[in-house]
Formats: sequence, C-alpha cells, structure tokens
Amino acid sequence: MTTNEQILGRDEVDDLEAILSVTNEDVDAVVHAVRSNPDAIFTWDYERSRPALVKLYEKAKTSQWNAETDLDWSIDVDQEKVVLDNVAAQGGFLSSDIDLSDTPFGKWTEKEWIQLGIESQNWTLSQFMHGEQGALICTARVVETVPWIDAKYYGATQVMDEARHVEVFAKYLDSKLSGHYPINAHLRLLLDDIIADNRWDMTYLGMQIMVEGLALAAFGFMHQMTTEPLLKRLLRYVMSDEARHVAFGVLSLKEYYQELSGTEIRERQEFAFEAAVRMRDRFLQQEVWDRMGLDVKETIKLVMQDDGRKIFQQMLFSKIVPNCKKLGLLDAGDGWLRQRFGELGVIQFEDWVDTGEEYAMLDEVAKDREAAAS
Ligand SMILES: [Fe+2]
Ligand SMILES: [Fe+2]
Repeated sequence: MTTNEQILGRDEVDDLEAILSVTNEDVDAVVHAVRSNPDAIFTWDYERSRPALVKLYEKAKTSQWNAETDLDWSIDVDQEKVVLDNVAAQGGFLSSDIDLSDTPFGKWTEKEWIQLGIESQNWTLSQFMHGEQGALICTARVVETVPWIDAKYYGATQVMDEARHVEVFAKYLDSKLSGHYPINAHLRLLLDDIIADNRWDMTYLGMQIMVEGLALAAFGFMHQMTTEPLLKRLLRYVMSDEARHVAFGVLSLKEYYQELSGTEIRERQEFAFEAAVRMRDRFLQQEVWDRMGLDVKETIKLVMQDDGRKIFQQMLFSKIVPNCKKLGLLDAGDGWLRQRFGELGVIQFEDWVDTGEEYAMLDEVAKDREAAAS
C-alpha cells in the first residue's frame, strides 16, 4: 500500500510546516529544465475511428480566436477599483467575522487591504500564466506520445489554444496589472511530475483532467466575480477553449482506462490524489503573504478559518470530481479515491455535470460568431 509519504512527501496531508517547506530557490532563473524520455509514437493507422474526437477537432477549428483582435485591449484597467469592486461583491475583505484585533491585520488600514487585493490579483494571474505554459508543453507532448491519429489532430489544435492563453495572460499582466510572481512551488512540483512521467495517459490525467479541470472552475469563479470588462471577456474566451480541453481528456481516458489492470488504475488514482493536494497547497498563496510582510504560517492558519475561502477552495474541485467519476477513478478498486476526496472535503461534487458533455454549451466564441453573422 502506497503511503502519503511516498505520494506527497509528507505523512499528514494538512501538515502546514511540510507544505511551507516546499519553496523555489531559483526564482531568478530564466529557464527550468525537466528531464523526461517518452517514446515519440508514429501511427500508420490514419482511419478516423473516434467520432467524439473528430467532432471535438472540428469544433476546435471553427472556434479559434485571435488574442490581438478579438479582445479590446484599449480598455483601461484601474486595479484599485477592481479590488474594491471585488470586496463589495464579497461583502467585505473577509467573508466571515473572524476577530482580527490581536493579529497583524488588526492594524491594517484600507491601504494595506487594497494592496493585498492587488498582490492577490497579480499572483493569481501570474499562476494562470505559468499553468498555461505547462499546458502548452504538455499538449505538445501529447501530440507526440498519444497513439491515436484523431487525438494527435485534436491535440495540435490545443497546442495553438494554449499558446494563445499564455499570450493573453502575459499581455494582461504586462499591460494592465502591476507586477509578476514567479511560479508557485507546488504548481511547479506538479507540472514537473506530470512532465517527468513517460506514460502518455499520465500527461492527460495530470494536465487535461486535474490542472485544466481546476483552471476551468477557477476561471469560471473569477469570470463571475470580476466587473472588469476586458478580463471578463478574456476569461470567457479562454473557458470556451478549456472546456474542450477537459472534454478531450475525459473522452480519451474513458476509452483507454477500460484496458488497464486494477494495479494500473490504482496508480492513476494515486496520481489524481497527488495532483489534487498540490493544487490545494498552491491556493494557500504563500508568496503573497510573504510579500505583504506577514508571518506566512500564522496568516494561513488565520485566513483558512474564513468561510468564503473554504468554499472557494472546495469549488475549485467542482469539475475535477465529476470527471474522475466519469472515468471510473472514484470507485475503482476499493473506492480509494472516493475516500481521499472525501477527506479533502470535495466529494460532494461527484454528481455535478461532467465536462465530456458540457463543452458545447460553454463555447462563447461560437455564439459570438453566430451573432455576428446574423
Ligand atoms: Fe489553457
Ligand atoms: Fe487548456
């Protein structure tokens, strides 16, 4: 039986000390190399035998958009106003009544709270950008390693999508916000693990199901909350693509997992659990507390009592859990992953809509094209 220590490098999932000990030392490096050695797979079977992937590929071809011309970059962004609008929407800087009087927050004026909002936004968008680059690299990998021609075709469209996503987030950060953050150490650990694994379906599971599933939920949350029109449209367009990407993962792995043995499925369950924990750890946003000059550990203990934050963290799994269920990962074997998702407090999403079916509905780009044509 694999232990938490082997999967996560710590015994206790919630061991805050161990979580915070994961940091990036080389924050000034311009490149980061990950060693991996998967086989590049040619296929001589050109038969279009997977209609669901053919359909997805056709959809991807007609729903391409241009980051330069389909978004209105002339919109001015007042970051302070964006923060205050978010605060108003949430009903305060924190959403529940935690007594802050004996904490460093007790001395804060509106100025520090606004700065926190600005840093949080810079951090969040920076992590989106880095995650998108992870997707770009993973999808290029999938094109090489997946043995099915329909998946190679579709994957090629996703490479283009991901380049566009990196491009839009980088441009938004540079031209509308006020600073970058390096990649979060937990996100990097996860991306490294996905890329270092030579098995093609692990790239899919790590990226298409876990990272992109979480991104889709996070983008949805931010899209709903923000009043900033450029970011709103940018996120909505990115979500149109992401829903297809997650569907690509669900449709492909559903077929492939039917061939795998119980032991092989268990390895996938463990990988899904590892990814879930890494992503949860990253949302503690330790770098932001540090930049605000706060004691990181004490601050995290405090803010984790905030109900709004708890609900947000759980909501991030609202796409991942139903998709894992659809793949049979929740209940395979002795229901190991169901148990673990239960412990993480996210199993309640199991019967929410899975993305294998949702993607057409989320295609805003196609809707805009139709509206423009009529
Ligand atoms: Fe993306
Ligand atoms: Fe994606």
